[in-house]
Amino acid sequence: MEDERLISPELIAGNEQEERLESSLRPKVLEEYIGQNKVKENMKIYIEAAKKRGEPLDHCLFYGPPGLGKTTLSTIISNEMNSNIKITSGPAITKAGDLAALLTNLSEFDVLFIDEIHRLNKSVEEILYPALEDFALDIVIGKGPSARSIRLDLPKFTLIGATTKAGSLATPLRDRFGIVHRLELYEPEDLMKIVKRSSGILEIEIDDESALEIARRSRGTPRIANRLLKRVRDYAAVLGDGNINLKITKHALNKLEIDEIGLDETDRKMLDIMITQYGGRPVGIETIATSLGEEIDTIEDIYEPYLIQIGFIARTPRGRIPLKPAYAHLGYDFQV
Ligand code: ADE
Repeated sequence: MEDERLISPELIAGNEQEERLESSLRPKVLEEYIGQNKVKENMKIYIEAAKKRGEPLDHCLFYGPPGLGKTTLSTIISNEMNSNIKITSGPAITKAGDLAALLTNLSEFDVLFIDEIHRLNKSVEEILYPALEDFALDIVIGKGPSARSIRLDLPKFTLIGATTKAGSLATPLRDRFGIVHRLELYEPEDLMKIVKRSSGILEIEIDDESALEIARRSRGTPRIANRLLKRVRDYAAVLGDGNINLKITKHALNKLEIDEIGLDETDRKMLDIMITQYGGRPVGIETIATSLGEEIDTIEDIYEPYLIQIGFIARTPRGRIPLKPAYAHLGYDFQV
């Protein structure tokens, strides 16, 4: 559905146009990367220290909601280390041999980026452990009693793992990352800077208030902000002179059914169910997902993080509860 695509922080699979847009807007060095200050400051130190020592950067794990720039950050890290990056994902590596092939093709200090690393299968994970710890690949030759294991040396590389679900990662795997960072949803001020930077690259004229309006409706997610910018540009081209002003911005975003704070139909329906059907009492995520006809993962990865960030819902040990601002936004009285 059109609306779902707009606010989905996932990269739209197989959409070459969107992939091209992303890569043209992607910052290449840390200096150009907006927001995530804590991560940025720490990574800057670690990269400098690793370079001074002449060693590869420690293995890194980045976790947090989709669309926040985990791939972008990893590409920047490999640029800053003057190395190459190979990008793959947990589900794409189906056999131990796939990973062995990737590892043996790396050069010293290269970055291997594995997205959705929580979805690696067990046999692949086991190859990864000695690779991470000792830069070695253990290969079994032969079968039965004459089988023996030989150890191949690998180049000293850096693994960067990304996941939306740090909790689903096997403990031994998680423990092998020296650097672990959570990426946070962006504040509107940072998203506004990203919108202005993207407008500059795409040669779009936009004023500050319009950039901030797009930022406020982008659910803390740069990928959504850049997507909305493109849509608003279309409205500006057809309804105006091509320049983006606040009136056109609001008109476009309202037409796209994204409200002032970035909520779409599903967000509002979810809050409404929690308030009216469950009277604000704790509701389990399974119940919410069933009521909405959505997958649990979709609710957890896409809808919930933003609603929690803006203080509309909270997680309790007994389930999710709607909070006062959610009642106000939907026009309900809040009673304790
Ligand atoms: N585009 C997407 N994410 C970005 C970021 N964090 N900084 C600058 N441009 C971006």
